Amino acid sequence: MRSDQIRQGRLSGERSGDLEHFLASMDADRWIAKADLLVDMAHLLGLRRQKIIDEAPARALMAALLDLYDHGLPEEAFDERFEDVHAGKEAYLIDRVGEDFGGRLHMGRSRNDEVATCIRMRLKEEIIALVQSLADLRRTLIETAAVHTETVMPGFTHLQHAQPTTLAHYLLAYEQAFSRDTARLREAYARVDISPLGSAAFASTGFPLDRDYTARLLGFARPAGNSMDAVAARDFAIEVLSDAAVCMTTASRLCEELVLWSTAFVGFVRLDDAYCSSSSIMPQKKNPDVAEIMRAKAGSVAGSLTAAITITKGLPMSYNRDLQELTPHLWRGVEAARQSIPLLSGMIGSAAFDTERMGAEAGRGFSTATELADVLVREYGLAFRTAHRIVGRAVRHGSLDLATLEDAAREAAGISVVEQGMTQEKIDSVLDPRHAVAVRSIVGGPAPAAVAVQLAEQKGLLARDTAWAEETRTALLGAFEDLILESRRLAA
Ligand code: ARG
Repeated sequence: MRSDQIRQGRLSGERSGDLEHFLASMDADRWIAKADLLVDMAHLLGLRRQKIIDEAPARALMAALLDLYDHGLPEEAFDERFEDVHAGKEAYLIDRVGEDFGGRLHMGRSRNDEVATCIRMRLKEEIIALVQSLADLRRTLIETAAVHTETVMPGFTHLQHAQPTTLAHYLLAYEQAFSRDTARLREAYARVDISPLGSAAFASTGFPLDRDYTARLLGFARPAGNSMDAVAARDFAIEVLSDAAVCMTTASRLCEELVLWSTAFVGFVRLDDAYCSSSSIMPQKKNPDVAEIMRAKAGSVAGSLTAAITITKGLPMSYNRDLQELTPHLWRGVEAARQSIPLLSGMIGSAAFDTERMGAEAGRGFSTATELADVLVREYGLAFRTAHRIVGRAVRHGSLDLATLEDAAREAAGISVVEQGMTQEKIDSVLDPRHAVAVRSIVGGPAPAAVAVQLAEQKGLLARDTAWAEETRTALLGAFEDLILESRRLAA
């Protein structure tokens, strides 16, 4: 295959392999190679429709493009001497159909609008896939929660036993976060779904391209409204990376729970062996390596986000080659999220929760003390701050039995709770963790009835998000099918 056809006019001299490697984007370009062929087809159809290209070169080029689409790009097109797949593919096409035909595809186009279009196309697919993985994870959390609405366990603040809750309430807290991640990705999708094609280098072109037509062929909602913005903007990539980083941050927190819960100290969960590794020296070890690597990947995605922002922030309008350095971070970030989320749902779905251990811990550390203070307020008329001081003093004395509580009341508030009618039976019933959960029945609370409402609401949201992903994917595939059909018609 010929050498880099783009350098031949203006520049001279061979370049070293090191230089070529430094400039090349071939690894990241593998992500967009297929999209690039679709972009070529749409551009060619547009050129032909506007009579910018004659029928003979259009047919020859389209036949070659369809052949590449059906059989894949040859490895040569990824040779680093071409710098990127766009140039490598053009060299291949010129080789194949001759320069008089092959040299006409790039009319009214630049690699700047080409690459931005390709990135947006691939990113749309990645967003849909991530939304679908998140939907599977959310379904797993919802289904697991549904069987644990009565599973009482301790909730923590500052990682200290705080108040009793249920496993369902705990898992649904994570589900809420993942459902927000989904909403963010759906919003980002609308901003990615805009076609730069026809913007050329940045100032568009004097060829009468129909940008609405090519945008529609490629399954975009519409063409970008300003050709300079279209080639220079990467905020769409930063936004999706940010969504991925936020989502991975939540995933990482859930992983941290699993690491903690699977220790001998806590013992709330047994992870399936598939998600664990052993030790090369300690034969007894079962380590939660998947959760640990996922926790670390969240850091890597945050790093990719930081890199993308930092690469972009100093760039004047319009295209700058720096932008090439951003793209691998985008793919690394979305890939980490797309790998992690399905594994996380597998890990949760196959985990064995030790509900007895959870129950045993639910009332530890005076975790129902708040409820006792609340009862002193509700049923005995004390001010909350007074009740808080009395119960706190009793805990300082090491017990919440009637005698200690009475001493504490006299000491800290100068009153008698016994005279108010407090009994040991009353205290016992109030300190039962099940009771503390049952009375927290207002909106958002852990009581089974309140959790049932949350389950129903989140199931509804999940169904809507699942339908969106399905419909969006189908519409996109439909557009690509039509594009290929149109292309075959031209080539025939
Ligand atoms: N490989 C380049 C990138 O990823 C494609 C655009 C090249 N444009 C240019 N003016 N050199 O950004």
